[in-house]
Amino acid sequence: MAAANLIDGRAIAAQIQSELVARVAVLKSAGVIPGLAFVRVGEDPASKVYVGRKEKACAELGIVSETHLLPQAATEVELLALIAKLNATSHLHGILVQAPLPKQICESVIFSTVLPTKDVDGFHPVNVGKLMLGDHTGFRPCTPAGVVELLIRSGVKTEGAEVVVLGRGNIVGKPMAAMLCQKGQAANSTVTICHSATRDIKAHCLRADIIVAAMGVAEFLKADMVKPGAVIMDVGVNRVPDATSKTGTKLVGDVDFANVQPIAGRITPNPGGVGPMTIAMLLQNTVHAAELKIKS
Ligand code: GUN
Repeated sequence: MAAANLIDGRAIAAQIQSELVARVAVLKSAGVIPGLAFVRVGEDPASKVYVGRKEKACAELGIVSETHLLPQAATEVELLALIAKLNATSHLHGILVQAPLPKQICESVIFSTVLPTKDVDGFHPVNVGKLMLGDHTGFRPCTPAGVVELLIRSGVKTEGAEVVVLGRGNIVGKPMAAMLCQKGQAANSTVTICHSATRDIKAHCLRADIIVAAMGVAEFLKADMVKPGAVIMDVGVNRVPDATSKTGTKLVGDVDFANVQPIAGRITPNPGGVGPMTIAMLLQNTVHAAELKIKS
């Protein structure tokens, strides 16, 4: 099948990154070099890869980043002390604590300790509240913001669309639904959130003009759950066994891509769809955080 209906997340992310170059130059001419702190706790292999990619993207754009590593057994008190230090460091405009955190650390406590003005993840309750209120002065979580940007730049109309969001997590599902149901441009959709207790997910999906799959179940969305012509955004990253690969595993999304692509109107590939957008939106949020500094 030709790739005509693919939404190229890599190309769109590259376009966003190139638009940020001029903004970084303006900041530098005002004496501000955007600074971002990463915090990683433990040795989660996926988190290592994600933070590594984010560090590289920062370096390419001229954002100075520093990564703080804490051991798997670190306590909540230790992590809170580190965040307090980063909050008080003026050359750092953004702070990102990579999730998931070890079990002994409560994520919501950590996310609400990062200063809202440095919360480039959009996870602080103040920023979550602003998103719900339709107040555009807050930071928006990177992955759902990236999905919205992909829809806009691919010319997908969200106005009046029936959207199904699969998954109700705080990082993607809930903020995704909040963004798309707002009054305004690139929103105005009728949103249904489906989750593990939804009675008939297939019936909901079959009505959808746009489906955002973000529940973390490998290849959950099958072709018989998709209305022909629907737009499919795949946020999932799942490692599954694969006897044909050297490592014995492979990564797949939440969408059964091979069978859904032929009937979808537009679809994100995986990899190369939503993933690169998460990074692009993080860079955008960090540049914005630095701009707030020269405006304040
Ligand atoms: N883990 C998975 N996605 C994200 C994200 O967008 N931000 C952070 N901090 N952790 C994550």
